[in-house]
Amino acid sequence: MSSSQAHGDRLLRCLLTGFVVLLLLFVLGAACSPQVPSEPPPASPPTYPQTPPDSFLPPPAEWTADGVISDGEYTKVAKYGDYEINWASDEEYIYIGLKVKTTGWVAVGTQPGTTMKDADMVLGFVSDGKATVYDIYSTGDFGPHPPDTELGGTNDILEFGGKEMGGYTIIEFKRLLDTGDKYDRPFSVGTNQIIWSYGSDDNSTIKHVNRGIGELDL
Ligand code: HEM
Repeated sequence: MSSSQAHGDRLLRCLLTGFVVLLLLFVLGAACSPQVPSEPPPASPPTYPQTPPDSFLPPPAEWTADGVISDGEYTKVAKYGDYEINWASDEEYIYIGLKVKTTGWVAVGTQPGTTMKDADMVLGFVSDGKATVYDIYSTGDFGPHPPDTELGGTNDILEFGGKEMGGYTIIEFKRLLDTGDKYDRPFSVGTNQIIWSYGSDDNSTIKHVNRGIGELDL
């Protein structure tokens, strides 16, 4: 064999060996390469609860002096036997709804001590379908309680209404938290002591058939 032929054979063997090595590397590489995860399916849009725009929310119940205590009209309620007082307030006003099992007068007040003396009261009744509400003040231990206007004060009941239904009297009214009238007592944030009472007659000079004290917190 000539030297050039031997050289050609070696070159051919080298090439063949190189090819086989490359082939092996390729096969091994393919077998050992990490599995590429298949593409995840396209993400669907998120379904977490979303707050609807304000315009979709039911409006808060509006206070109306229509003699009906409707859902959401008041934020708090307290019951003393047959006497129920509902109330709500904002920064300026207090809204009160009294619902009492009587066909006579109903009242709520705030007093500085015991008895009725110097109590600021609101008294209302419904007669022949018409509601009457007085802003009154008790000058003595057990009355009398003339309207504030008769004492030189002001009538500070800004709106009122009422209905008598099924043996119940409902009286609703709105007042400033602090009227500035000296015959009114301001309502303040926190606990306000109240006195309550009701009669069995619309005549507001006839004494209550039931009365008591309670709390109204703002
Ligand atoms: C309609 C005219 C009224 C008369 C003639 C009258 C009369 C009296 C009398 C004689 C008492 C003492 C006897 C008892 O305890 O029952 C009394 C107590 C009381 N009254 Fe009247 N009242 C009148 C209206 C009111 C009103 C409108 C309220 C509340 C908003 C009220 C709240 C009270 C309270 C809380 C007591 C208990 C006072 C205490 O023992 O410290 N009263 N009332």
